[in-house]
Amino acid sequence: MIKYDYRGVDSNIIGSEHGLNVQEEFNNYRDKISQIITDLYQHKDTPGQWLQWMNLAYTEETVWYVKEYASMVEGRFDNILVLGIGGSALGGLAMTEALLKPYWNFLTEEQRENYPRIFFLDNIDPDSVRGLLDVLDLKKTLVNVITKSGSTVETMAQYMIVKDLLEKELGDDYRKNIVATTDKQTGILRQLADQEGYKTFVIPDDVGGRFSVFTAVGLLPLALVGIDIDEVISGLKDIDAELQNTDINSNIAAQNALIHYLSDTQKGKKISVMMPYSSRLCYIPDWYIHLWAESLGKCVDNDGNLIHSGQTPLKAIGATDQYSQMQLYNEGPNDKIINFIRVEEFDNNLEIPKIFEYTGIGYLGGKTVNNLLDAEADSTRVTLSDNSRPTVLFTLPKIDGYHLAQLLYVLEMQTAIAGALYNINTFNQEGVEQAKNYTYALMGRSGYEESASEIQEKLGVNV
Ligand code: PA5
Repeated sequence: MIKYDYRGVDSNIIGSEHGLNVQEEFNNYRDKISQIITDLYQHKDTPGQWLQWMNLAYTEETVWYVKEYASMVEGRFDNILVLGIGGSALGGLAMTEALLKPYWNFLTEEQRENYPRIFFLDNIDPDSVRGLLDVLDLKKTLVNVITKSGSTVETMAQYMIVKDLLEKELGDDYRKNIVATTDKQTGILRQLADQEGYKTFVIPDDVGGRFSVFTAVGLLPLALVGIDIDEVISGLKDIDAELQNTDINSNIAAQNALIHYLSDTQKGKKISVMMPYSSRLCYIPDWYIHLWAESLGKCVDNDGNLIHSGQTPLKAIGATDQYSQMQLYNEGPNDKIINFIRVEEFDNNLEIPKIFEYTGIGYLGGKTVNNLLDAEADSTRVTLSDNSRPTVLFTLPKIDGYHLAQLLYVLEMQTAIAGALYNINTFNQEGVEQAKNYTYALMGRSGYEESASEIQEKLGVNV
């Protein structure tokens, strides 16, 4: 199982000005946390609570359909192109980057065991969209367009461009190259997919984008490139069993939620850094940033009080960012809590050759890069502690679907518990909707005419 260590935040280690008396706080919040977890599980099937993500370990039917489709299209495509943004892209991106062999898209077909390359288009930069479409042979590309709402402008604009090109190249057959993942009933993509006759997968009701990685949103891209999604689901089930424990002393998601909440509200740690010591985990912080920021950054609490809650999540990669951000973390404002992620066993044990023995780098010979990475993570954590900077540590026994699913689910559960501690609505995102609506208005969507003139006026004044 995934492991978690909070000693780096304890006041015995980093002092009481910045650290927490963790055991005392666990005792203080024991009942409250127990109530929060009980409430979450009690309400998980209540419509409108957006808690259906808590059931995703048990959706055998979806897993079966995803696997069946993946095996049906196996060998037919050279590329998978995922169109989506936010929760409709980040989970799949983070998991495929972690679980596929590094530099997957550069490997030969044989090295990829005939599974396709995979590309995530989650932006609308005209040069990169054009650039990717120029290098992909669309005839041999399966396009997975993903949007829960079915109307997100970036995704729909990409889809319109790609669909047009596909149809020009393949005629009526283009439909076989598109698979849509969207709501079962509502939204423009659902309507189009039904009209045009695409294969579709459903994003269940009451699962928000940032909690959707274990629906077909994440599972389909994984299965299409040959990743064992049964292993992912098995990790999910095992961690769900642990996280149902209402005792904070045995629930790592509750522990990290409380530690973050108190570090923010009592110790001024306004920033939460996610720092994996692994390049394969390089998009996990991006996924976490979306989850933590959009869930907890709220203007008012559930009682209508103005609170402007939320820590700012940040990304760092070890060891790389020791050489860019660590100076600030150690000596700058003490306003961060740093989540380390360590990997116990890498796929490779990479030895440093015993050369240059009589020089200043001779001591490295015979050691492994694995030893070096471990030493760097340890020394960075101890230095941060020396400087009274709070840290927590997640350890993955190895990078595989089983353990990665556990990490992501712990972070999801931790977010839900933290939201309850802040007493906010964790699952809405009104601050995003406003800009989305303004964009619709500026792009001439009907029904938004009034906002269009309002925003034109504001732009005119501001410029
Ligand atoms: O977490 C969320 O719900 C959002 O950030 C969505 O993921 C994002 O807006 C994309 O939405 P959609 O899947 O509807 O295109």
